[in-house]
Amino acid sequence: MERLDKFLCDCGIGSRSQVKQILKSGRITVDGRVTGDGSMKLDTATAQVCLDGQPLRVRGRLVVMLNKPAGYVTATEDDLSATVMELLPAAYRHLKPVGRLDKQTEGLLLFTDDGDLLHRLISPKKEVPKVYYARHEGQATQADVEAFHSGLTLRDGTLCRSALLEPLGPGESRITVCEGKYHQVRRMMASRGMTVLYLERQQEGALSLGNLPRGGVRELTDEEIDLLEK
Ligand code: URA
Repeated sequence: MERLDKFLCDCGIGSRSQVKQILKSGRITVDGRVTGDGSMKLDTATAQVCLDGQPLRVRGRLVVMLNKPAGYVTATEDDLSATVMELLPAAYRHLKPVGRLDKQTEGLLLFTDDGDLLHRLISPKKEVPKVYYARHEGQATQADVEAFHSGLTLRDGTLCRSALLEPLGPGESRITVCEGKYHQVRRMMASRGMTVLYLERQQEGALSLGNLPRGGVRELTDEEIDLLEK
């Protein structure tokens, strides 16, 4: 048996004093009943504790997927723009984004509280393939496909690893990259004379957006997290 306030701190929803405030404001339910009593003892293996209706669990290996809409910056705070954190229910706001998507890029963005997993996923050594759909000016040619495959040099001299460019039709391509340099896909396409007009990340490793709607958020299952770790 564990105290409710300790459990809430371990879930990472805030400091001890923030947890006190949250309890006071009636946002916590235990097995469906609102409670403000931090000293309440519970069996954390069986009790269903929710913040604003969202189930909580102790930190570690919590990974959520967001289908990011355009117009939000990938940052935990920003003075000028709305951040992706605003799209997460309160119970997930302590999570950190895994890598970043540009403000105008849409699609798959992961968040986790597992620092080791985060570093493994963003490490270029790990080479997690990320698949993007792009609409762009111009038409990708066989020469562009080969240039992507050989490893492009960006306009500022940055070298990129081998990447897959698949032309889908006039002004549409699928691009798979295994690294996450700043504005990478836009800059790779620009280096071949194709300005990207729209960009969506559709897949990261074995995970894809599936039917998660734009702006939607869901937790990954343990099996999905295991797939990411491979
Ligand atoms: N490459 C980009 O140019 N932008 C993104 O948001 C992601 C990859």
